[in-house]
Amino acid sequence: MKYLKITAKIRICNYEELLSEEKIIVDKAKEATFRAYAPYSKFKVGAAALLANGEIVTGNNQENVAFPSGLCAERTTLFYAHAQYPDEAVKTLAIAAYTEGDFLDRPISPCGACRQVMLETEMRFKQSIRIILYGKEEILIAEGIKDLLPLAFDSF
Ligand code: THU
Repeated sequence: MKYLKITAKIRICNYEELLSEEKIIVDKAKEATFRAYAPYSKFKVGAAALLANGEIVTGNNQENVAFPSGLCAERTTLFYAHAQYPDEAVKTLAIAAYTEGDFLDRPISPCGACRQVMLETEMRFKQSIRIILYGKEEILIAEGIKDLLPLAFDSF
């Protein structure tokens, strides 16, 4: 029997170890959690995308009483970014989550649908996205979606 061995490279660090530019993006993602609309889950997620032109676009989860109609913070942010700046690649995407009065100690990891949209964003602009998953005690950094979405569907 043959096996395919898949490895992912994820850097683990804390806030102080981030570059100053990364701290700014993480701070924007954290701020964006407070503008989330999450009356059902009470789980507020914020994201911030640094674009190639230097703009930082933020977004958050937007829920709906008809649950599938809501959207995660990551896709809200990426779609909003490219609705405004259709020609700008995303260099970095930071994600933070806030619930029960505090940010989480350990980061959350994006859902499959958001990973698929990140992949398409990378493909569209031929540029990998540094993905920073913020937690108070631990931050995870992937240099591209390939480390979060192995064996991805990217063409047919
Ligand atoms: N959520 C996000 O916005 N991003 C994630 O990476 C995970 C989950 C949202 C969806 C829903 O509004 C709430 O968090 C609870 O799942």
